[in-house]
Amino acid sequence: MAGRILIVDDEKDMLTLLTRIISEETDHHVTADGDPLNALNRFKNEPFDLVITDLKMPKMGGMALLKEMKKIRPEISVVVITAYATIETAVEAVKLGAYDYITKPFKRERILLTIDKVLSWQKMLAENITLRKVLAEKEGVPPMIGATPRIKKLFEKIKQVAPTTATVLITGESGTGKELVAKALHHNSRKKNEKMITVNCTAITENVIESELFGHVKGAFTGAWKDKKGLVEIADGGTLFLDEIGDLSLSMQTKLLRLIQEGEFKPVGSTFTKKADIRFIAATNHCLEEDIKEKRFREDLFYRLNVIRIEIPSLNERKEDIPLLARFFLKKYALLNQKDIFDFTPDAISALLSQDFPGNIRELENLIERSVIFSNGERLGQRDLFPDNTPSNIPDIICPEFSREIMDLPFREAKEKMIQLFHVQYIQSVLENSGGNISRAAEQAGIQRQYLHRLMKEVKINAEAYKSKPEKSTF
Ligand SMILES: Nc1ncnc2c1ncn2[C@@H]1O[C@H](COP(=O)(O)OP(=O)(O)OP(=O)(O)O)[C@@H](O)[C@H]1O
Ligand SMILES: [Mg+2]
Repeated sequence: MAGRILIVDDEKDMLTLLTRIISEETDHHVTADGDPLNALNRFKNEPFDLVITDLKMPKMGGMALLKEMKKIRPEISVVVITAYATIETAVEAVKLGAYDYITKPFKRERILLTIDKVLSWQKMLAENITLRKVLAEKEGVPPMIGATPRIKKLFEKIKQVAPTTATVLITGESGTGKELVAKALHHNSRKKNEKMITVNCTAITENVIESELFGHVKGAFTGAWKDKKGLVEIADGGTLFLDEIGDLSLSMQTKLLRLIQEGEFKPVGSTFTKKADIRFIAATNHCLEEDIKEKRFREDLFYRLNVIRIEIPSLNERKEDIPLLARFFLKKYALLNQKDIFDFTPDAISALLSQDFPGNIRELENLIERSVIFSNGERLGQRDLFPDNTPSNIPDIICPEFSREIMDLPFREAKEKMIQLFHVQYIQSVLENSGGNISRAAEQAGIQRQYLHRLMKEVKINAEAYKSKPEKSTF
């Protein structure tokens, strides 16, 4: 989609150059203005998607322009262009809310890549807002964030399945958003004005679960002073969400099967059956197919539940969503804690991307909540996120000018490049220490000789080159 770009620079040559690059290589509409005051007026009246501005201009500096523009439209993306000499001001500009800065002299590709990044980021945000609206309108369903193709497919599936009455089985690792999906299904169903009752099958003990679910009649057991409605009866007409269904005992599974199959249940101590019209949603982090093999889960119940299956990927399988999710949680917790933190530093984002999250989205959310509480800056940095350790040593092992280039690549490519670079530097280091002796280098690295050999081949390192160097200085 073509974007609308406003370029502001008092240097005519620069204006012409930028306009030419963008018009030749992209479909975006460019408006160029040599006068910042004039540009600000235009900005008030025209819906630009991106502003590219020089910092040093006589009538009004780029920083002042940025501030004014942010006052008018806080969400506007601004990229500042600066000479090396004023790089500190550029960093300041980013602190003030500029999306990025580009140093002069710049390469054509750098400009084009930045524009592409800004506009795709905005597109992703817009799509996300639409999806959120579709999925999470009603009372208090938290928005679901994600823009990877797999997660978009999942949103699409929720949209299709929600209005039906089909039973849904949601599977996924802990913290991936199973409960959130269940809520989205209910709040987008025809039963959205009815109750959604959640039963946590792990939390209720075996001896009370039956009466909790199906209710009991007076005198059914000691302490049953009067008739009591169970959760199934309360959910009648609405949705019953059976969370952690994999933890349900076999005897309860049998009773549940009857409820799902016949729409019937019997309160504890009663001789009569009751009917309930319920939409069932179940969730588990177990592999139920395995549980069936191990005779821990009834196969017939599984088929009743597994009418529609929604599998939520782990966060490690959708790492590209991490920046989006992280920024969403940052906003949420900054607001809740009344902090003026509005973004992450680039090294914080790369640290998050290189981190493993076995606890999935919940772990990421908790990490950001904690960091927001303890931080006082305007941007969360790597140290705010990981004060005790440095999970991503990447910025230390790569040279700074290379780092920028890598960060501009798509995630997978960037990761591969980083790993390759790490292999090169690490292997060079152990070979230097061992004077080119592969067996000793492997021993130092704590890996098999053959594995080191294979890595060396992959990155084209020859041990011979290290043999001429003395292993240890004899001086
Ligand atoms: N796509 C998402 N966008 C925003 N927040 C999300 C998303 N998915 C999950 N969350 C948030 O992550 C946290 C964990 O989600 P949820 O409780 O639904 O996971 P779960 O799979 O049920 O976890 P568990 O197996 O541990 O019960 C919640 O705070 C939820 O709001
Ligand atoms: Mg859950």
